[in-house]
Amino acid sequence: MASGKGGVGKSTVAANLAVALAGLGYKVGLLDADIFGPSMPKMFRTEDARPYAESKDGRDMIVPVEQYGIKLLSIGFFVDPEQAVLWRGAMASNALKQLIADADWGELDYFVIDMPPGTSDIHLTLVQTLGITGAVIVSTPQEVALADARKGIDMFRNEKVNVPVLGLVENMAWFIPAELPENKYYLFGKEGCKRLAEELKVPLLGQIPIVQSICEGGDNGEPVALNLDTMTGMAFRELAQSVVIATDARNHQLPPTAAVSTAK
Ligand SMILES: Nc1ncnc2c1ncn2[C@@H]1O[C@H](COP(=O)(O)OP(=O)(O)OP(=O)(O)O)[C@@H](O)[C@H]1O
Ligand SMILES: [Mg+2]
Repeated sequence: MASGKGGVGKSTVAANLAVALAGLGYKVGLLDADIFGPSMPKMFRTEDARPYAESKDGRDMIVPVEQYGIKLLSIGFFVDPEQAVLWRGAMASNALKQLIADADWGELDYFVIDMPPGTSDIHLTLVQTLGITGAVIVSTPQEVALADARKGIDMFRNEKVNVPVLGLVENMAWFIPAELPENKYYLFGKEGCKRLAEELKVPLLGQIPIVQSICEGGDNGEPVALNLDTMTGMAFRELAQSVVIATDARNHQLPPTAAVSTAK
C-alpha cells in the first residue's frame, strides 16, 4: 500500500483492507513499514503490545501480535517513535528487514505492507528484501495528490524495480452529510483517480468516501471494516474483493516478482 503524497489515507486503507480480507476468510499479515511514523499500533488498539521472540528450529523468531484475526508487526511495538526519528537510514532498513525475515509470519494468503509516504530508502529496502506481488496506490482525487501518485507508480514500474501495479484506490472520494444524504460533495475533485487509472491502464480498485466513522475507527483502534455490512464496511469489502481479483489476474499473467538485486 503506497502513495506518493503523505496523509492521503494509506494506513487507514491498509488497515481496513487487511481487516476486510480477514473478514472474507483469508489469512492476513500486516506489516507497518512506516518506521518513522508507525500508525498500526493505534489503529489496531495494540499500543501496549510487546511482541516476544520464540525459538524455532534453533532461530529466535519474533512472534507477530494477533488482533482481529490479523498478524501484525510494527516498529512502534519495539521503539519509541521519537527515538526512531533519530535513526540513520541503515538502522531503519535493518529493523525493517528483521520484521520481515526474523518474524514467524507462518502461512499467509495476503501480506499487506503499509508503506511510508513518498519514495524513500525504506521503499528500496522493501523491494530488495521481498518479491512484492503488487503495489496498490492510494490517492485522493486532488491534482497535487495525483501528481505524486504518478511518481509512486513510476517507482514501482521502473525497469529495475518491476513491481506490478495492481491498481489505484481513490480515498476521500466524496462526502455525504448525514442530514442531507441525497447530496454528494466532491471536496477533493471528482473522479481524479478514475481518470488516472484509465490513463495508466490499471484498475480502479475502490472508491472510499470521507466518513467520520472511518477517521474515528482509526483513532479508537477499531477499523470500520470489522463490520462489513455497514455502508463504510461495504466500501472496504468491495475494495478487498477487487484486490483479490486483481491479484489473481496478476498471478495468472506474470511470473512471481523477483526481489531487486543488491549486487553492485
Ligand atoms: N476515507 C476517510 N474518511 C475520513 N477520514 C479519513 C479517511 N481516510 C483517512 N482519513 C483520516 O485522514 C488522516 C490521514 O490518514 P492516514 O494516516 O491513513 O494517511 P497516510 O497516507 O497513511 O498518512 P502518512 O503519509 O502520514 O503515512 C487520518 O486522520 C485518517 O483517520
Ligand atoms: Mg501512514
